Amino acid sequence: MVPQTRYPSAMVTITPLLPHLGARVEGVDLSRPVDDATFRRIADAFEEHSVLVFHGQRLTDEEQMRFSERFGPLEATINSIGQERRLHPNLVDLSNVDPDHDEKLMGWSDRRMLYQSGNQLWHTDSSFKPVPAKASLLSGREVPPVGGETEFVSMRHAYATLPEGTRRNIDGRVTVHSILYSRSTIAKGLFDPEHERALPPVRQALVRVNPANGRTSFYIGSHAWYIEGLPYDESRRLLDDLLAHTTRSELVLQHRWTQWDLVMWDNRCVLHRGRPWDAAKHARVMRRTTLAGDGPTAEPPFATRTELWDGIVPEGVGV
Ligand SMILES: [Fe+2]
Repeated sequence: MVPQTRYPSAMVTITPLLPHLGARVEGVDLSRPVDDATFRRIADAFEEHSVLVFHGQRLTDEEQMRFSERFGPLEATINSIGQERRLHPNLVDLSNVDPDHDEKLMGWSDRRMLYQSGNQLWHTDSSFKPVPAKASLLSGREVPPVGGETEFVSMRHAYATLPEGTRRNIDGRVTVHSILYSRSTIAKGLFDPEHERALPPVRQALVRVNPANGRTSFYIGSHAWYIEGLPYDESRRLLDDLLAHTTRSELVLQHRWTQWDLVMWDNRCVLHRGRPWDAAKHARVMRRTTLAGDGPTAEPPFATRTELWDGIVPEGVGV
């Protein structure tokens, strides 16, 4: 039985990383049960800073799931290509170590890694699902000496600094998200027809409000395909402009991984991307738990098959 070690919340320190995004949390061991007061401080810091970095958290899969579940129910992952049924359904395995071939390293030419390379596009986890993820927690089990960083930007800060006219133009709009669309920008045929049928395009509110603190952000990323009610080209331009406004280099929080870091981020208002590394030479083994969102952000949650949808379907997206 795990001893009930208690960490007085006064021992926890929270240090902002950038003025508008991120904080480092110290003074807590997440492998042990966390008392309510400490948990409340962490949860408040999450709502305030959107990205939390915990160093030196040597977590097992079970410990990571237990801490993650303090925030709410976890979502089950879709099976990544080649990674089927290896781990608990609440865990995502992001790794270039091949379990089927003596743990050899998989380089970027491997089809499974091609699929993972989609994580190098700015995105927010699970925005292609009818109930998008609230948060993700990523544990660095093995990290490369160079590269493989994770970068974050705040869509909340970006919304707050938009010109008034743009804000008026996007308020109340709905965006259609699809992982078939985002992966089609990388390569064809990454999904088989069974996967494709299970991943219909979904509708997401373009502007979202955090129910805990009323802070507003827009909600875009690589899965965001087009904005309903606008001509397709215009909606693509607007999505590209919003992305460029959000990801200006001076606004990027880069996390350089050390082993046993745990990083948690708010998928409702943060975009992230993984950076490349020499995958044929160095292992990078990460485990992700994902908190389920509270519900759909738009009703109805699924996009209908429209003339527009048929007209713009990119090559490689089977619908
Ligand atoms: Fe991700």
